[in-house]
Amino acid sequence: MTQYAGKIVREEVATILKNAGLNPAEIKAGLGTPPSPELGDYSFNCFLLSKKSPEAAAEDLVKKLNPQKYVKKIQTTGPYINFTVDKEKFTGLVLKEIFTLESSYGNRELGAGKTVVVDFSSPNIAKPFGVGHLRSTVIGNSICKLYESLGYTCIGINHLGDWGTQFGKLIVAYQKWGKEKQLKAKPVQHLYDLYVKFHTEAEKDKSLEEEARDWFRSLEDGEQEATRLWHWFRDISLKEFQRIYDILNIHFDSYAGESFYNSMLPETITKLKTAGLAQESQGALIVDLERFGMSPCLLRKTDGSTLYATRDIAAAMYRFDTYGFDKMIYVVGADQKLYFRQIFKVLELLGCPWADTLVHTPFGLVRFGTGKMSTRKGNVIFLEEVFQKAVDLTEKIIEEKNPDLEDKREIATQVGIGAIVFNDLSTKRIKDVDFSWDRMLNFNGETGPYVQYTYARFSSVLRKYGRQVDDKVNLNLLNSDMETEIVRLLSRFPETVKHAADEYEPSVVTTYLLDLCEASNRFYNHFRVLSEDLETSKTRVLLVWCIRTVLGKGLRLLGMETPERM
Ligand code: ARG
Repeated sequence: MTQYAGKIVREEVATILKNAGLNPAEIKAGLGTPPSPELGDYSFNCFLLSKKSPEAAAEDLVKKLNPQKYVKKIQTTGPYINFTVDKEKFTGLVLKEIFTLESSYGNRELGAGKTVVVDFSSPNIAKPFGVGHLRSTVIGNSICKLYESLGYTCIGINHLGDWGTQFGKLIVAYQKWGKEKQLKAKPVQHLYDLYVKFHTEAEKDKSLEEEARDWFRSLEDGEQEATRLWHWFRDISLKEFQRIYDILNIHFDSYAGESFYNSMLPETITKLKTAGLAQESQGALIVDLERFGMSPCLLRKTDGSTLYATRDIAAAMYRFDTYGFDKMIYVVGADQKLYFRQIFKVLELLGCPWADTLVHTPFGLVRFGTGKMSTRKGNVIFLEEVFQKAVDLTEKIIEEKNPDLEDKREIATQVGIGAIVFNDLSTKRIKDVDFSWDRMLNFNGETGPYVQYTYARFSSVLRKYGRQVDDKVNLNLLNSDMETEIVRLLSRFPETVKHAADEYEPSVVTTYLLDLCEASNRFYNHFRVLSEDLETSKTRVLLVWCIRTVLGKGLRLLGMETPERM
């Protein structure tokens, strides 16, 4: 089992308290961090020992506490006992650990033998890949990487929206107004135009809706022409989505979308009926959830067609049988909150013992100054154009800052796409994201380019140093407050990763990286890393090496690239 510096020292503090006769629960409840580093590195709150006279309890207890290997000073401040760690020893412990573990620093075996399924991205066939799906894609990808680094096996599933009444509409629209040539040239654009046209026409001509329902029924019955068209639409859409995944460098273990579960639906409905859950209501089939304060979960419409929810219920059971997951995470927008509560409840009522391992991780909208974009009205943004623009703008900035850089386009791609990814992740998941080019491409702001730039800067320092980095250094030379702060941050990386995974919150990592960049740039602007004094250089280079390693690891956990030059 890997031990981390922060944990080793914390455990030492706990042992010191235990040796004085405190029990583990008391220790856990009382241990904290002092409000300012001058007071110490850990604190113990004696209010828990005596509400009446915590000061006296502190005075009493401190007499029984003895320093050990890392804790060198123990003092009281009012009702608190503060523990100060030997800086040099702690620095040595942290840097050595990073130096030894390299890019596996922060990894753990907590999830060994356990599987997490992550349902993410999941765009809808024949509709543009929107900014909301982009957000699900980057959050889901980062959650997978976080869990993998904790030792879990992660299965990424793209639950494609490839089934539903909209395919009836598309078939009608394609037959009436579709152009094969256009469909081949710009598939999603054309299918989307057809979808929009269907809705405007259907407002004038009500019979179109009826026609669409008939076609969808033919599709559900597996009739040849309907199936052929559906396959075709699906293939060309998927190819286009694939281009987006390639740009983002994201992979899925499965593309089993909604249609995949069709053959399992009759059995699912039978199960729901046998369990006494499904009931007819005005010709439709529903699960009544009133006693749980929720509207009914709709399983089958009056016209006999099955629904999104039925397919999700079947999918959850199939996935449990297939992967035996310990947890399944759905990365889907906050507008489906009630929906997921409904299907989780239905699965619980069905008696699935794993229903309590299902998690919906909602996220907020992406705003472009105006409100949410809808696929129906036509004011939609095509993602590849957004990517293109990010890369173009970044290339211009690089052109100004560093005109001699080789492979400008490639680096602009890494940074431009990274800027979008970081922007999506650095806002707390549940909050709405503002999409502003100026803000997210600012190389000095709280942005992806800023973190990548810091990474590239330290990479360049190491290139200039040109020698083998060594961990046998004079740690006494790293004792400024700036350096101590960096070491403290570096030591917190493992717990940061764990915290981010526990909360399904990549923004914990982005905040951490911004803090580390800020502390590191302050150090870099203040000290000369490569100086005439070889011993000093050697020592500072080790610190730089560790910073670069952790920044790189953090960027990769977010699904971003690590350019060596910018
Ligand atoms: N395709 C759906 C949408 O765009 C998202 C699917 C999410 N995953 C799921 N298992 N329901 O809204």
